[in-house]
This record gives sequence, structure tokens and C-alpha cells, in this order.
Amino acid sequence: MNFTLHSTTDYHRRELTSLGWETTLCNALADPRSPCRAILGIDAPYGQLLGRWLRRHVPFPAVSHLVEVGGGYGWLMGDLLRQHPFPHVTMIDISPKLLNVQKDTLGRIRADIAYREEDFLDTPHDLLRGADLVILNENLGDFPTITDLTREDLENPPGTASPELRAAGALFRGHDLPIPERASFHVNSGALMALEKLCRAEVPYIFLSEHSCEAVVSIPYRDLIRVPASGNPECIVLKGHKEFTIRFSHLEKLAQARGYRTVRGPVADYIPFRLTPRVRAILKAPSPWRDEDEIVRYFLEDLFKYEYLLLVKERETGPAQDGATPACRRCGKCCLADFAAYIRDEDLARWQREGRRDILAVVAREDAVWAGDHLVSAADGRYLRGCPFLMWEGDHAGCAIYETRPATCRNFQPASSEICPLWRPSWP
Ligand SMILES: C[S@@+](CC[C@H](N)C(=O)[O-])C[C@H]1O[C@@H](n2cnc3c(N)ncnc32)[C@H](O)[C@@H]1O
Repeated sequence: MNFTLHSTTDYHRRELTSLGWETTLCNALADPRSPCRAILGIDAPYGQLLGRWLRRHVPFPAVSHLVEVGGGYGWLMGDLLRQHPFPHVTMIDISPKLLNVQKDTLGRIRADIAYREEDFLDTPHDLLRGADLVILNENLGDFPTITDLTREDLENPPGTASPELRAAGALFRGHDLPIPERASFHVNSGALMALEKLCRAEVPYIFLSEHSCEAVVSIPYRDLIRVPASGNPECIVLKGHKEFTIRFSHLEKLAQARGYRTVRGPVADYIPFRLTPRVRAILKAPSPWRDEDEIVRYFLEDLFKYEYLLLVKERETGPAQDGATPACRRCGKCCLADFAAYIRDEDLARWQREGRRDILAVVAREDAVWAGDHLVSAADGRYLRGCPFLMWEGDHAGCAIYETRPATCRNFQPASSEICPLWRPSWP
């Protein structure tokens, strides 16, 4: 019983005056002159890049009420509102200071935004019931974390246990979350409670991003970018407070237990960058030459240290108006996406198990990198036009490795994203 509850509530309510040196990805990309902007495939601020990616999964016209929790300086919401005129917008933040900054930033764009100063864990259920998309960008780590727990503490919380520990224990039991296999471990109780709250309110679309303790670098970049990931939430000491990295697998499991479809990956999925010879040199150098190079290096590492999790409630967002998923036309459009970037470790492990050296050789050879608006092979600069296993069977597309295709392909639902011609942008 050595556990401790860490909370940043007092810091955010009373001490916080600015984000200080807590440079979020959103802040890193806000200034067009930032060295991080110079290496992007698409030169745009964070919110624009996120919005561009979100639209593939979320029909913006169907989002009547957009809620952002912990919006910092309001820049992400500003970028989203410039892309789409969401009819109702609510900003929730525990920090009175930051809420004022948000009013200032967003007041220049829209006058009818609702601002709520509150701890998200106290936000009323009814408000969330009416929300269509809720965004929590880089703030789950601020929510309470219980450290140094044992299996016994979690399975049988002592009578004197805090409400957070009792709530965490109930979530582990209720959703069958795997208890970590180590003598003692940390649990992101606040993040789990926040997600449970959103799922209970049946918000159709929920987007989360945060520093992960389970980060994985995508295959094409593994030789260049290394990020440590212990699997157990790690403490990060920041100005005036401590945060914890997030165990996304627990959040993902909870979401799936609540009937959501999930999309998960590194933030690099929606922030494409150019792996130019200079960027390669920065990443390969034993230590950075200039401050600017150091900023770029940290930024690139962060693109993989930070994960996102998008939750979609299939029932409410069925692509066809009658709720049924339409039949695939086998047009092959979804196979024009980048194959290498969608491969997961489970696919690699399976191909290794199955002895599919043919596939593994192609994966190694493709080494795809984003060159602004198309993919090229990092090895020889070849223009990559799509999946190397796409083949044509008469007038329709086929897959040369169908029986062992990547999980992303197996799980893809026709009409679930803009890449598919069956996608309907004007969903109700
Ligand atoms: C690291 S900043 C992220 C800001 C912004 N989303 C970004 O990506 O730049 C964390 C934000 O979450 C807010 N926050 C922290 N704990 C919160 C809580 N329990 N409820 C609501 N907001 C919270 C902070 O005040 C701050 O605005």
C-alpha cells in the first residue's frame, strides 16, 4: 500500500499563468517561421493538419456541437473553425488564465463560443450527451495518476482508498483491463475516468492525443528515430507540476469495451514531414550542431512519442443513411495509400512467424517517406503510387497477400473514410 495519487488540479487552478516551457506540438507549429514548420510536408499549423486528417474519419457537416477540453491558447480550435463553421462550440478548461487567453484568441474568430471554467472530470453528463466531437489534445497527462500500485491494491482497494482508486479498480474489473505484469505500476486513473465519462455520454467522435508510454516509431523511420517507451506511465517533471505519460492500450481497450471503433497511431500520421538529406543528417548526428537542429530533432521524436486515439461509434455514424455498411466495389482506391506506414508490429510478427520473407523484403525495400504530397522510396527516390501488393483481376482490384494482409486493411470498412468513393460527405 505505497501508492500515491498525483494531481495537477491546484497547479492549473492557481499557479499556471502560461504554458511556459511546456511546448506542445500545437505551439511548436504555431509560428510560420518555426524550424519545425520548415520540415513539414504541408506547411500548416497543427490544427489545420489535424483537421485535414480528422475529416477522413469524421463527417464535419454532421458535427453540430464541437467541444474542446484543455484548449491551451485556443490555437487548435482557431484552426478548426477556419476550416469549418461548426454551429456550436464549447471550450472547457480548468485554468482561469488559459480560458481568458482562449477567449482572446477565439473572440477574434467567433463571438458565440461557450467557455466553461471547470475540471473536465466535473463536466455535466448532459453537456457531453449533446456533443458530437470532443477533442482532448495533450492534456490527459495532466489528469490524476495513481503511482506505485500493486495488483492487490487494484483488485481489492482498501476501505480507506481514495475515490480515484476505487473508480480505477471498478474500471479495470468492468472492462477487463489487463493488470500490468510487474510488482508495482502506475495507472492513469484520471484519463480512464475521463474516457469512461465520454463513452457513457455516447459522444459519437472522441479524439485524444498525449505523450505515450507505449510509443512505437513507424517502420520507415526506425533506424533514424528512437523513442524510449517503458510501457508503464512515466513521470515528466515540468514547470511547477508533474505529468505522466499515458498507457494508450488501456484507453483503447476501454473504448472497445464500450462499443467504439478505434483508430490509433503516432501523431506523425497527421503531421507529414520531409526526410530531406539535412533532416537525416540532423537525426544521425551524435549531438546537434545548432539550437535549431536540436529543436527539429526533439520535434521529430515527439511526433512518435505522442500518440492519438480516435473513437468512432459505428452505430451512430454508419456511412449509409440506413446504417448498413455498403458492399466494397473493389475499385482499389484504398490500396493507393502508403502500405509501409500502415503496417503494425503485429503484422510484422505474423509475417515472421509465417516465414513470409517475400513480404518482409518488400517492406524493407519500400522504406516510404512523405515528400510533401506524395510518397517516395527513401532508398532510391522512386515515386510510390500505392500498395506494392495491389493487383488487377479483370476490372477489379485484388490483393496479392489477401490471406495475411495488414490489420489496417482487414479492418477497413467501405465508406468509412474519404479515400473510399462510397464516402458520403453530407451525412445527416
Ligand atoms: C499541455 S496544455 C495543452 C494545451 C493545448 N491543448 C495544446 O495542445 O497546445 C493542457 C491544457 O489542459 C488544461 N487542463 C489540465 N487539466 C485539466 C482538467 N482536469 N480539466 C480541464 N482542463 C484541464 C490546462 O489548463 C491546459 O489548457
